[in-house]
Amino acid sequence: MNKLSVFLLLAAVSVLVACSDVKRKPGTVYMPDMAYSRAYESYSDHSNLTAKNINYTARPVSGTIAREEELPFHIAKDAAGDTTNYTAAKAVMNPVENMSPVETKEAERLYLVNCAICHGANLKGNGPLYKDGTGPYPAKPASLVGDAKYENMPAGQMFYSVAYGKNLMGSYASQLSRKQRWMVIKYIKDKQLEGKAAATAVADTTAMK
Ligand code: HEC
Repeated sequence: MNKLSVFLLLAAVSVLVACSDVKRKPGTVYMPDMAYSRAYESYSDHSNLTAKNINYTARPVSGTIAREEELPFHIAKDAAGDTTNYTAAKAVMNPVENMSPVETKEAERLYLVNCAICHGANLKGNGPLYKDGTGPYPAKPASLVGDAKYENMPAGQMFYSVAYGKNLMGSYASQLSRKQRWMVIKYIKDKQLEGKAAATAVADTTAMK
């Protein structure tokens, strides 16, 4: 056999071996954790992964801010029976100072979807769930328009109540992002001003008579 035929034979054998799809060994993998991600079972116990040498925390990197959550509110929920932070919230200004017509429309939509069932489409605290006390909801929702208590309530304090709940009203933190909550409160504050302006106009015309 000459050298060429030996070479061709070897080449043919290696091609055949390479093409066979029976692969019993994966070969050597450099840094396998980088090549194959660790299988993660959603409902498995992942409480003590570090002990098992798995560096997976299931948490976003610290300091990460979720989308739409960029607007600040640093006041934590009071412990039961305490009102320190509820009072401190008065000092927090609404970071949403102005809304474009499109944003106002969106804030109105959010209000109508989430709040109007109790507080009423006109914000007077008499939504279909309460209906002058004949509805299924046991507590009178706040009259956000037309009640001096709520018209004088600072936006930050309203935000506190919408974020953490107030007596029978639950928290809206999971339904509305922080930005959406501030937008709804801006919407309420604008409606209060509109309500007051309308009341003054009526008083003026009455005075003129
Ligand atoms: C299931 C009925 C219900 C819904 C829905 C509801 N509220 Fe209320 N809300 C209440 C009741 C009841 C109160 C009065 C709580 C109290 O003072 O005891 C209240 C009080 C408030 C207050 C005054 C809080 C305070 O500190 O006194 C604000 C502001 C308010 N709601 C805003 C909202 C906004 C904004 C939404 C929608 C995101 C909303 N509410 C949805 C029932 C509701």
